[in-house]
Amino acid sequence: MTQIKATNITRHEGHVTREAREKLLKQKGALIWFTGLSGSGKSTIAFTLEHVLVERGHLSYCLDGDNIRFGLNKNLGFSAADRTENIRRIAEVGKLFVDAGIVTCTSFISPYRADRDNARQVIGPDCFIEVYMNTPIEVCETRDPKGLYKKARAGELKGFTGVDDPYEAPLKPELTIDATSISPQEATLTVIGLLEKRGFLTGL
Ligand code: ADX
Repeated sequence: MTQIKATNITRHEGHVTREAREKLLKQKGALIWFTGLSGSGKSTIAFTLEHVLVERGHLSYCLDGDNIRFGLNKNLGFSAADRTENIRRIAEVGKLFVDAGIVTCTSFISPYRADRDNARQVIGPDCFIEVYMNTPIEVCETRDPKGLYKKARAGELKGFTGVDDPYEAPLKPELTIDATSISPQEATLTVIGLLEKRGFLTGL
């Protein structure tokens, strides 16, 4: 757990509560955390989910691994320490989004169980939904949308998750999706079904 470095800081409470924002938005803040190998379908389903939710009148926003690494996390690589810091920052940003009342999707490999468990605690277990994309590596590798498995197998890319870097599968995810035989639309409807059941898509 990262310690607070600054001294002489005091929390300041705003006047608008999370409940007030959720009432305004007619929904509840939630974090749908997609985890899985590169090419497992995380980003495709997360962006489809964001799209369908917005079309249905819900405020949703997707934080995506590759995209965030162009900005907020541009100073991080793929060492174990950098991956942990990547996920720690996303957990904190996700917490803010959820507090804003937004149905937030994150798509990061997030290979370490301890980092995902920390995200769950930071965001709050009641509004954290872990979606494990357990698409087999053979399928991810056949799809290889960015050509990275090919590079990793050729030894041109070191420390690639699933090839020569670890991925720790979730033990108790809220949902497990294998993108081999399900379309992004079908998978998205499964996630929406769970969000409805848990009451996130209705106001207070
Ligand atoms: S994480 O491990 O820190 O959670 P993140 O989801 O942000 O990773 O970024 C993964 C993306 O970065 C992959 O989809 C791939 O496009 C790219 N990438 C580049 N190098 C690697 C690597 N060594 N391991 C995994 N993904 C990599």
